[in-house]
Amino acid sequence: MCGIFGVIANNDNVKDQIFDGLRRLEYRGYDSSGIATINNDQINCIKSQGNLDQLQKKLINEDLLGNVGIGHTRWATHGVPNEANAHPHITDEVAVVHNGIIENFSLLKNQISETGINFKSETDTEAIAHLITLYLKSGMGSYEAIRATTEDIKGSYALAIIVRSEPNKLYAVRKGSPLAIGSSDSKNYIGSDGYSLGNYCNEVTYLKDGDIAIIKNDAFEIFDHQNEFINRKSQIIDKTVTLAEKGAFKHFMSKEIHEQPSVIQDSISHYINNEDLTVNLPKFPFNITNLKNITLVACGSSYYSGLVAREWFEKLARVKVDVEIASEFRYREAPMDSSGLTVFISQSGETADTLAALKHCKKLNQKTISIVNVPNSSMCRNSDSSLKIFAGPEIGVASTKAFTCQLVVLASLAIHIGRINGNLSDDDENNYVKSLLDVPRLISNVLDQEEDLIKIVKELNPIKNALYLGRGQMYPVALEGALKLKEISYIHAEGYPAGEMKHGPIALLEKGLPVIIGAPSFNLFDKTASNLYEVIARDGNVLLITDQEGLNHLGDTTKKIKSFIVDEANIITAPFIYTIPYQLFAYHTALLKGTDVDQPRNLAKSVTVE
Ligand code: M6R
Repeated sequence: MCGIFGVIANNDNVKDQIFDGLRRLEYRGYDSSGIATINNDQINCIKSQGNLDQLQKKLINEDLLGNVGIGHTRWATHGVPNEANAHPHITDEVAVVHNGIIENFSLLKNQISETGINFKSETDTEAIAHLITLYLKSGMGSYEAIRATTEDIKGSYALAIIVRSEPNKLYAVRKGSPLAIGSSDSKNYIGSDGYSLGNYCNEVTYLKDGDIAIIKNDAFEIFDHQNEFINRKSQIIDKTVTLAEKGAFKHFMSKEIHEQPSVIQDSISHYINNEDLTVNLPKFPFNITNLKNITLVACGSSYYSGLVAREWFEKLARVKVDVEIASEFRYREAPMDSSGLTVFISQSGETADTLAALKHCKKLNQKTISIVNVPNSSMCRNSDSSLKIFAGPEIGVASTKAFTCQLVVLASLAIHIGRINGNLSDDDENNYVKSLLDVPRLISNVLDQEEDLIKIVKELNPIKNALYLGRGQMYPVALEGALKLKEISYIHAEGYPAGEMKHGPIALLEKGLPVIIGAPSFNLFDKTASNLYEVIARDGNVLLITDQEGLNHLGDTTKKIKSFIVDEANIITAPFIYTIPYQLFAYHTALLKGTDVDQPRNLAKSVTVE
């Protein structure tokens, strides 16, 4: 993962711009960070353990002058998150920042150590700095030394490099991890994404695998993997994505939970025609009539949104759906119908496993659609067609509004396919669309009951373990609820299909174990209620999320459980309505525990390594 930012200017102080760029990249990692510049024929470097606030404190007391510099915000792969392992990694001659993994680093480290060099860190990246330096000392020029190094290293990398003897140049290298160049008057920049460059540039040029760029303050040249000069097309940066502010909210996660009615409205307005109550998707560059099978591929919460959507595609469009975890799918060599449709779901559009699965599917002649939040992300650029979810920047590491906005797009796509393949009538389409249009109001209703949920959280806490149960779409919603709790409060939680409990997880039940059950009255309520009784019989502490009708069904049993009542739902609205209490539950549990809600330990917003 990790974020890279670099600046080369005329004779400016680039430190502040690098720091600002890193702020925009903090979603990619925040366990340590650092900046290096060249000044007076010397490389200067400041690094810090912890997030960027820690680096900022150090920078206040440091000049760190220079017209060229590189910065990095890290998510540890090799070596613990401490200052020594923080990037940049420097030698007397070069400073290097890296996003990715060097797979043959142990071998390289041994070879380099044999020349008498002592490593100062446990990272794979330090090997790159030493290799370039060794090549420089052997008499090569900087570009040749960097190219030779890329021939030695295996794995994935985006690199930004500065060379002490060349303060008028900045080098950028890409293989497998994203990197882009942005230009403005008399300054050039590199960043891990277009968003980080958006403050300073209007246009961005994405490097391709194998590219090495030599960047000066007023021009840059790119050489491809065959060492040929190449003209890569630039793209206009989407400036609608601005740096998000917390406003009056204590955490981004809380802000993002509360933004859902409005961002979902935004998303709906892009895909729904609310005058004639129809779905209005952009034209795809391929035919999607008569689809026999759709594959949905994603990771984490995005995978769960795929699991929710499976039922929409199956029931509304009568198309068979496989939902795949990208990291497994990409290596499984699953046979695929040639010219089938594969949909990639991702908030960031940069998740390495999902991106690799996309590339794999393109080789298999699949029609590809990506459903993403970040505009111009790698997935947008690499898929045949891209549907944006319009959630706006999601900063909290735990996905909330992106998950529900993905659901809007997936529901729209399912209705659309159901309509064109003749499974849905005009009336059916109108009715499902009406339900979708009602989602913002229904979510607001749940948010209005936040105080009730806080009370329940306080009663149930302290929580050591939790079980989340549900049937149908409430099963992936349960998985999502359990993931939220795990991520931000570090409490062990399992999501299970309610009917599967008796096949094993029931052994976990003991007095007081919180068991959170989502059960809308319209779907399989009595079946889920049977599982609820089984929990009560074993002294579990049930929190039931249901509607009034569901609660009425339970009669006196309601006295033995805690309940949170939501509006009546249907197949379209249920996953939205029932996700919100789970988000709030996780958030308030984490608040009580005092964990870092927006930047939980060991995680990063965008997972750009395997
Ligand atoms: O950016 P993506 O949607 O591809 O990210 C996928 C997962 O890494 C992400 O959903 C992760 O599980 C979140 N932290 C969940 O809250």
